[in-house]
Amino acid sequence: MPPQSFSRLPGFRDFVPGELALRNHVFETWRRVATRYGFHEYDGPPLEPLGLYVEKSGAEIVGQLYNFDDKGGRRVALRPEMTPTLARILAERSRGMPKPIRWFSLPQLFRYERSQRGRLREHFQLNVDIVGESGVAADAEVLAVAVDAVRGLGLGEDDFVARVNDRRLVTRVLTAVGVAADRHADCLAVIDKAGRAGPDATGASLRALGLDAGAGDTLGSLIADGTWEHMKQRFADVPAVLEAMRPLAEHRAILDAMGLGGYVQFDFTVVRGLAYYTGIVFELFDRAGELRAICGGGRYDRLLELVGGEPLPAVGFGMGDVVLTELLRDRALVPAEAPACDCYIVWVGDEERTLGMSVGHRLRESGCRVMYSLRSQGLGKQLKAANRAGAAYAVIIGPDEAASASATVRDLRTGAQDTRSLESLIEHGPGGDRATSLGSGTGPPSRGGRAERKAT
Ligand code: HAM
Repeated sequence: MPPQSFSRLPGFRDFVPGELALRNHVFETWRRVATRYGFHEYDGPPLEPLGLYVEKSGAEIVGQLYNFDDKGGRRVALRPEMTPTLARILAERSRGMPKPIRWFSLPQLFRYERSQRGRLREHFQLNVDIVGESGVAADAEVLAVAVDAVRGLGLGEDDFVARVNDRRLVTRVLTAVGVAADRHADCLAVIDKAGRAGPDATGASLRALGLDAGAGDTLGSLIADGTWEHMKQRFADVPAVLEAMRPLAEHRAILDAMGLGGYVQFDFTVVRGLAYYTGIVFELFDRAGELRAICGGGRYDRLLELVGGEPLPAVGFGMGDVVLTELLRDRALVPAEAPACDCYIVWVGDEERTLGMSVGHRLRESGCRVMYSLRSQGLGKQLKAANRAGAAYAVIIGPDEAASASATVRDLRTGAQDTRSLESLIEHGPGGDRATSLGSGTGPPSRGGRAERKAT
C-alpha cells in the first residue's frame, strides 16, 4: 500500500508536551478551586443517546451535534455539553442522596461549530453544579467558583468580568413592554445574539418578530444600555419588574460580602442560548471584549424533571479551556515548562554503566526523576545531555568511584561538586536532603500568579 499522510481534523487539537502541560495546569487549578468549595468530581460517557439533547438543550446546540446511528441501530451523539449527562445521572440516583449535591467534572465536549478564534470542534469544560438548592446563595456560590477558577490562573479584576442577568426579569420586562408570551423565546434568541449582531440587525430582528415600535424601542434601548440604573429608572412604576430585580440584588450582596463584587456586572443582554435556563444566568468575558465567552451558566430548575428525575432545582456553569488558554497566552501567564529530570547519571567508561544504571534505578524507586544516556557516549556529551534535560544534578561514576562505592555529585546550576558514598546518595538524594532534592519540579508548572508572570 502506498504511504498516505493524514492531517488533523479541523477544529481538533493535538496536545504536544508543552501544550499538555498548560492544559494540566488549567485542570489542576480548576480541581483545586472546585474542591476548595467542597465539590466532588464525577464523569460520564462521551457518547449519549441523541434524545438527551433534542429539545432540552435548544436548536442551536442540536444543529452542532456529532450524531450517528451505532451498529446496534441506536441514535447516539458525542456529548456537546455536560449538563444533560449530569441530569440523566441524577435522574437515576438522586433519590435518597443528601442535598444539595455539589458535583464538578472536566469533560471533553464535541460541537460541529465553524472553527474560529475561541471556538473549536472539541473543547474541555470545567462544569460545576449545585443540585437541590433553590436559594440565591447557591447561584452566588457557583459564580464565586467560576470567578476563583479564573483568578486561580493569575487573571484579575482588570482582565475579566462576570455579566449577570435573570431570565425571569427579562420575561417580566417583555411582558411589561407588551410582548406576547408566545414571542418570548424568539425575543430571548434575538437578545442573546444582540452583542454580535449589532443594533441595526437586532432592531430588524425585533421588528421581524412583529413587535410594535414602542416595544422594539424599549428593548433596543435596554440592549444598548442595559445597566442596573437604567432598568430601575425605566421600570420605576412597574412593580412586577422591580420585584423581579430582587434576586439579583441579593445575589450581588452575597458576592460583595465575599469580596467578589468588583467582578460582577448586570447586563440585560446576557440571556444564554441554551433552552433550559430558568433564573439567574451569567457569562464571563475578558474585560477588553476581544474574545468569546470564557464561561456560561445559570439556574435550570426544570431539567432534572424533564429527563425523568425528581423535580430538583439546579444551578451551575461550564467554563471552556480554549478562550481561557488564549487569554493566559495574551497575558503571558503561561507557566514555564518544568524539566522532566532531577538527576542525570553519567558514567566515565562502559565498565561503570551497569553500576550507574543500578544507582539510577534505586534513586527512581525513591522518587527521584532520573535519566541517563541510552547509548555509549563520552563524558562531555553525557554532561551536555544532562543540561539539556534540565537536570539539577549530575551523578558521575568513574573507576575510582566504582572502586570505593561512591559517586561524584555535581550541582549543574552552581558547578559545585562533592563525592559521597552510594549508600548516602541513595538515602538522602543527590541534593543531600531528600525533601528538597528529590522530585524538585515534579509538581505542576509554577502557578501563574501575577508575581510569577514571565517577561514577554
Ligand atoms: P455553553 O455556554 O454552551 O454552556 O458553554 C460554556 C463555555 O464552554 C463557553 O462559555 C465557552 O467557553 C466554552 N465553549 C462552548 N462551545 C465551545 C467551542 N465550540 N469551542 C470552545 N469552547 C467552547 C454549557 O455548555 C452549559 N452546559 C453550561 C452549564 C453547566 N450550565 C449549567 N451547568
